[in-house]
Amino acid sequence: MKLSFPLLGFASLCIAAPGPGYSEQHDERIHHAAAWPNGPFVTSGRWIHDASGANVTYAGANWPGAADVMIPEGLQYQSIATIVSKIKSLGMNSIRLTYAIQMIDEIYSSGGKDVSIQKAFVQALGQANGTRVLNQVLAKNPSFTASTTRLEVFDAVAAECAKQQIYVHLDNHISKGTWCCSAGDGNSWWGDTYFSIANWTRGLSYMAEHGKSWPNLMSMSLRNEPREPASGLARSTYSWQSWYTYIKQGAAAIHSSNPDVLIFLSGLSFDTFLTPVVQNTALTPGTGKFTFADFLGYADKLVLEIHNYENSASSCSSLQNNLYNDGFQAMDPSATASINKFPVMLTEFGFQMDSTTWKGVYASCLASYLPAQKAGWFIWVLSGSYYIRSGTQDYDESWGLLNHDWSAWRSPSYVDGALLTMVKNTLS
Ligand SMILES: *[C@@H]1O[C@H](CO)[C@@H](O)[C@H](O)[C@H]1NC(C)=O
Ligand SMILES: *[C@@H]1O[C@H](CO)[C@@H](O)[C@H](O)[C@H]1NC(C)=O
Ligand SMILES: *[C@@H]1O[C@H](CO)[C@@H](O)[C@H](O)[C@H]1NC(C)=O
Repeated sequence: MKLSFPLLGFASLCIAAPGPGYSEQHDERIHHAAAWPNGPFVTSGRWIHDASGANVTYAGANWPGAADVMIPEGLQYQSIATIVSKIKSLGMNSIRLTYAIQMIDEIYSSGGKDVSIQKAFVQALGQANGTRVLNQVLAKNPSFTASTTRLEVFDAVAAECAKQQIYVHLDNHISKGTWCCSAGDGNSWWGDTYFSIANWTRGLSYMAEHGKSWPNLMSMSLRNEPREPASGLARSTYSWQSWYTYIKQGAAAIHSSNPDVLIFLSGLSFDTFLTPVVQNTALTPGTGKFTFADFLGYADKLVLEIHNYENSASSCSSLQNNLYNDGFQAMDPSATASINKFPVMLTEFGFQMDSTTWKGVYASCLASYLPAQKAGWFIWVLSGSYYIRSGTQDYDESWGLLNHDWSAWRSPSYVDGALLTMVKNTLS
C-alpha cells in the first residue's frame, strides 16, 4: 500500500515551516497559520488544545530508551533519521520516549557531566560487545562520536522528530535502567529499593528543564506503571492516598521547571486504572478526593494515561466497558457533572506482530474504540530488538512494529490492514 500522510483538519490550513524563500511578507500572508508545533498545549475538559485552540491528540509509538544502556534503542541498526521517517510514514504524529532516572542520578554524581555512549555500551554489554555495538551505532549515526553522551542522543532523537514534525512525549519509565516492569524489580513504587522519591523529583525537574531546548517536547509523564511492591517497606504506602501525595510532588517538580508541558498522571496496578480520580471518590484509605485546585495555576495541564493488556479479551463490548470504567469515562461528554473531565490516552497496548493477532478481538477492538473516542495512544512498541533485555543481548522483540534490524515492518499485513487506518481516524 502506498503511504500517505493524513492531514489534521487544522494542519491542512497550515503552511510548512519556513524554508529558504521565507520572508516577512510571506509571513503576513499566512498570519493565521501558526508554526508547528504551535504549543504550549493546554487541556479544556476532555480535549487538548494547541496555542490556536485547535484540538490535538497523539497517535504514535513507544520508543524505549530506559533499559540498561539508557540510550534510545535501535541505533546500531538504523540512523535516527531513518527510524523517525518510518514513524512518519505511518502518519503518526508523536513518540513516547522513555528514560531512566538513573541517567540523571549519574549526571549529578559526576558533577553535571553525563557519561559517554562508549562507557554506557561497555558498562551494559561488556568490553567486546559494547565496543562492537558502539561502532555499529557510530557507523549508522556518523554525527555521533564515542564521547557523545547519552543525553545528547536523546537530544538528537528529539531534534530529528522536530525536523519531521513529530511531537515528543517524554516518559519516566523506571528509576534503575533495566527492562520494566515487575512487582519485584525494586522500581515498583515510591520508596522501593531503587525508587528514591528525592531522586525521582530531581530527575523529573532535570528533564523538564533540559527539555526546554526541545521545541517539540509537548508533555511529560510522572511515572510509568505504579504497582504494588512484591516485598519491602514501600508496600505499606501502596494506596491511592499516598499516590496522590507523590503525584502532586512530581507534577510540581515538572511544572516549576517547565510550565509549558502537559503532565500525564498514571494509575495503580501497573497503570491500568484511574477510576477514583475520574469518578471523584475517596482516595483510600483516606477520605480526601482528587481536586484540580491542588494544581493551582496548572490544572489545565493534566492528562490521564492508562495501559491495557487485556490481550485475551473475547468480547469487544466488555473490553470497552473496562476501558470506560478504568478511565475513559473522563472523556464522555454525557457523563454526569460529578465526573472529573480530562483528556485520556492509552499510552501502552500491544500484541504479537504476526499475520493474524491483529485481527483478534483485542487489537481490532482498540483499533476502532480509540479513534471513535478521539483518544490519543502509543502502541507498545516500535523496537524490533533491544541492545539488551533481561540479560539477553540483541533481544528480539516479537511485539515490535519493526523487524529485528529495524529495517521494515514486522507485520506488513497489520500496518496495511489496520494501523494506517487507526492513525488516520484518530487524527482526522
Ligand atoms: C474538538 O472536537 C470536538 C468533536 O469533534 C468538537 O465538538 C469541538 O468543537 C472541537 N474543538 C475545537 C476547538 O475545534
Ligand atoms: C555478545 O554478542 C553476541 C552476538 O550478538 C552474543 O551472541 C553474545 O551472547 C553476546 N555476549 C554476551 C556476554 O551477552
Ligand atoms: C540517588 O542519586 C544518587 C546520586 O546523586 C545515587 O548515589 C543514589 O544511589 C541514588 N539513589 C537511588 C535509590 O538510586
